[in-house]
Amino acid sequence: MTFLRLDSIKKNFGDVSVIKGVTFSAAKGEFVVFVGPSGCGKSTLLRMIAGLEDVSEGQLRIDDKDVTYEEPAKREVSMVFQSYALYPHMSVFENMAFGLRMAKMPENEIRTRVAEAARILQLEPLLERKPRALSGGQRQRVAIGRSIVRHPKIFLFDEPLSNLDAELRSQMRVEIAKLHRSLGATMVYVTHDQVEAMTLADRIVVLRAGLVEQIGSPTELYDRPANTFVAGFIGSPKMNFINATVSAAGPGSLVLDHVTFVGGRLVVDTPSAGKVKVGDTVIVGLRPEHLEIGSSAPVLSLTLDFAENLGGSTQLYARGEGEPVIIVTPGRPALDAGDTVKAGISPKHIYLFDAAGIAL
Ligand SMILES: Nc1ncnc2c1ncn2[C@@H]1O[C@H](COP(=O)(O)OP(=O)(O)OP(=O)(O)O)[C@@H](O)[C@H]1O
Ligand SMILES: [Mg+2]
Repeated sequence: MTFLRLDSIKKNFGDVSVIKGVTFSAAKGEFVVFVGPSGCGKSTLLRMIAGLEDVSEGQLRIDDKDVTYEEPAKREVSMVFQSYALYPHMSVFENMAFGLRMAKMPENEIRTRVAEAARILQLEPLLERKPRALSGGQRQRVAIGRSIVRHPKIFLFDEPLSNLDAELRSQMRVEIAKLHRSLGATMVYVTHDQVEAMTLADRIVVLRAGLVEQIGSPTELYDRPANTFVAGFIGSPKMNFINATVSAAGPGSLVLDHVTFVGGRLVVDTPSAGKVKVGDTVIVGLRPEHLEIGSSAPVLSLTLDFAENLGGSTQLYARGEGEPVIIVTPGRPALDAGDTVKAGISPKHIYLFDAAGIAL
């Protein structure tokens, strides 16, 4: 069942068009993540769902009701921001109770709701503390608690973890995933961190410059990116791209020429061979984690620039004919800068795009 629906939503600030027509819907209980580079319109879109920003064009529906022009308080959504801005002079309990007090909720109901949120977020021992006596992660939990006590129809999160250090961020990521599971609530979460997107989302909406590039589950976006933008955005380190020229396009297979390939040539079996012709440029996409050093069927012949030892794995920065290629390999291969590196890949992991970057 569709619970949240955006229909051709647009947003202009003066004559600047920031959101250029976004359509998508989320089911009840779904965890949707908006990702995209800085300035692509993620926060603007979220603020429009919350009612903090007017919609210029299009329709917004929550729980089957048109809320395009509904005031924020009546939408029953709740937003958690990056800067969680707790009231410093109030205790954790009072910070969570504040919104309910303003809404004139009866005191016993406030106590019940705060107690429930504190239990879910494991804040019970901290209820009498002031925010300055809390860690960053605990403060962020209080900020989430302020949302939980309101029993919203939809939780909105705008980069809630980006102020935290790396370790806390991964801890809180797991907590948010657990929270989603235990509440079963509909959540829309904005981030530019592709790891957060991959791990939290039921579905990811990839945005670029106010438009949707692709919508799909994390696995769909990783396995079948619609274009080089999505392919480069999902996965870390980023997918390697090598331009090659089509020298033969037979039924079911392509022969691609480029000096970075061993023997200057790569033969790929693909059902999309008919979409290109001899002389066309094709972009070959290879994920760093799929490239295998010393594999029996080398695809790439590279020169190593630099090796980064990550403990359990090594990140190799290499070069083909001018193009940088990153490889992630387990262990610590005995390689030095300047060495020739041959890397292979399983044929099923070779991605192909046309010259405009659209998946073949
Ligand atoms: N009030 C405003 N007036 C004019 N332009 C605005 C206003 N608010 C946002 N913008 C512009 O709209 C675009 C999208 O902004 P938005 O904050 O939604 O981006 P974002 O995807 O959340 O980026 P970030 O990842 O940096 O938070 C930006 O180019 C921004 O400068
Ligand atoms: Mg933003």
